[in-house]
Amino acid sequence: MKANKYFPTIVLAAVMALTIASAASRPAAVGRNGMVVAPEAQAAQVGLKVLKSGGNAVDASVAMALALAVTYPNAGNLGGGGFLLYRTPEGEFHAHDHRETAPGALTAGMFLDREGKPVPERSLRGGLAVGVPGTVAGLLDAHRRWGSLPFKDLAAPAISLAGDGFAISRETAAGLNRSATLLAADPESAKIFVRRDRPWQAGDVLVQPDLAATLKQIAAGDPAVFYTGRIGRAIVETVRTCGGVMTLEDLAAYKPVLREPLHGVYRRYRITSFPPPSSGGAVLLQILEMLEAFDLSASGYGGSRTIHLMAEAERRAYADRAQWMGDPEFFDIPLDRLLDPDYLAGRAGSIDPARATPSGRIAPYRPVPEESPETLHFSVTDGKGGIVAMTTTLNSSYGSGIVARGTGILLNNEIDDFAVAPGVPNQFGLVGGEANAIQGGKRPLSSMTPTIVTTNAASSRPVMALGSPGGSTIITSVLQVLLNVLDHHMPLQEAVDAPRFHHQWLPDVIRYEARMLPEDVAAGLRRRGHILEATERALGNVAAIWFENDGTIHGAADPRGQGRAEGF
Ligand code: DON
Repeated sequence: MKANKYFPTIVLAAVMALTIASAASRPAAVGRNGMVVAPEAQAAQVGLKVLKSGGNAVDASVAMALALAVTYPNAGNLGGGGFLLYRTPEGEFHAHDHRETAPGALTAGMFLDREGKPVPERSLRGGLAVGVPGTVAGLLDAHRRWGSLPFKDLAAPAISLAGDGFAISRETAAGLNRSATLLAADPESAKIFVRRDRPWQAGDVLVQPDLAATLKQIAAGDPAVFYTGRIGRAIVETVRTCGGVMTLEDLAAYKPVLREPLHGVYRRYRITSFPPPSSGGAVLLQILEMLEAFDLSASGYGGSRTIHLMAEAERRAYADRAQWMGDPEFFDIPLDRLLDPDYLAGRAGSIDPARATPSGRIAPYRPVPEESPETLHFSVTDGKGGIVAMTTTLNSSYGSGIVARGTGILLNNEIDDFAVAPGVPNQFGLVGGEANAIQGGKRPLSSMTPTIVTTNAASSRPVMALGSPGGSTIITSVLQVLLNVLDHHMPLQEAVDAPRFHHQWLPDVIRYEARMLPEDVAAGLRRRGHILEATERALGNVAAIWFENDGTIHGAADPRGQGRAEGF
């Protein structure tokens, strides 16, 4: 780590974290043999136990993903999809894509009224919002490729948590109460997640017998039970009853895809992240490449110059996202051009250090004529060199709110990640066009950014693993934690705790966590022409791991969530 004046002073890290971030922060967890950082404590314990019993990072990830489908029902899922980025102990990288697909019969027209205007919420609520789930196929396939313990042993903790029930946390109780209207709208989901007598409270026991039975069937290890058996039939019947067009053929045709990860170099580090159909890796690498031209350490974390430069790089990258990114199997993304250092040097060169460039003046990349697109994250390492960064989602909190009859499975509303019509913002305010238009069988464009950093040297030593939920703010949350460590030399926990901001081209504003900008910094940004908008909502919920030179591993959960880092 270059001139890192803080590491490895973990005690100082905790003290700094308290002064900088919310009081809810904890010191980073420290270990040498393994580390999990997950968004919910009981699932983190499940992962830790798997590592201690000799499981590898993929085993722990599978067990945690299944446990989170029980203990973190707003985002943990069997009825959604995700991305798993895996570094093998030998240093190879694999990007495992088990993102949902659009049902084959789905068309863009189904989301428009007679005048061709988008019908509000149709991509978020009801059967048309539900993509063909990829999680179960994904976990089974990742386990078959890289797991080492029997799948049924990895599913056992989730089965007990669902069948015996578990005491919910304050945050889970609050989340269920906040989403009571959505959850009450579906009879099956109401049965499981809505209390009639009084609001949920911390310590209430949530029992999910149908989900336990579903998990037991999945534990046998055959994806057919989900994709062609009773569970699949229940999913299709429920989706169709709710107005959707999903068929048994759609489910039977679902396949996870192993993709080539994206690699980039930032200063002395090699950044490996997720390729399309996520925009996460490409946008992250674009921003980092543009920022490489500037010395961010000089103006430091939170300085108006630093925020200005980052926001300018972000608006340029998100403009390209809107125009050019989508499912690579349906749209020819000019990825090489978008990541070309010369192109990005030109983009960085258009950044005026003294003035914001209005987004109306930032056009997406144009090819030259002769050349012709509520979530959760956990990070795990097994201490043998295996590392997993995995982000998985139902999209909104509790997805569509629809539970497939008799299965306990909450179904996603991932279809909203498509651009329902050109220029019409989705729930995250993201716009898109043809690249991310709705088409049967296509995967909606994602912002999920599971990322692993290694040294850019022959030895390729692991440095960090991280990721976040947060829709469009996922990419910039990952970016900021990376820069906080790599440029601003913060200890890991402080880097995760530190307030964050976000710019996504459109709308043309810097959204920031209320505690981020002291008045002088805000004034410096307004002077440069930025429009500022404070938000009371947390931006992201990062789960990060940091590898010290001496073999010590640090894990940091985000005080914005209820997550936990556990090492040994
Ligand atoms: O794939 C995506 O980019 C979104 N479906 C992620 C949703 C999300 O992060 C919601 N969580 N806060």
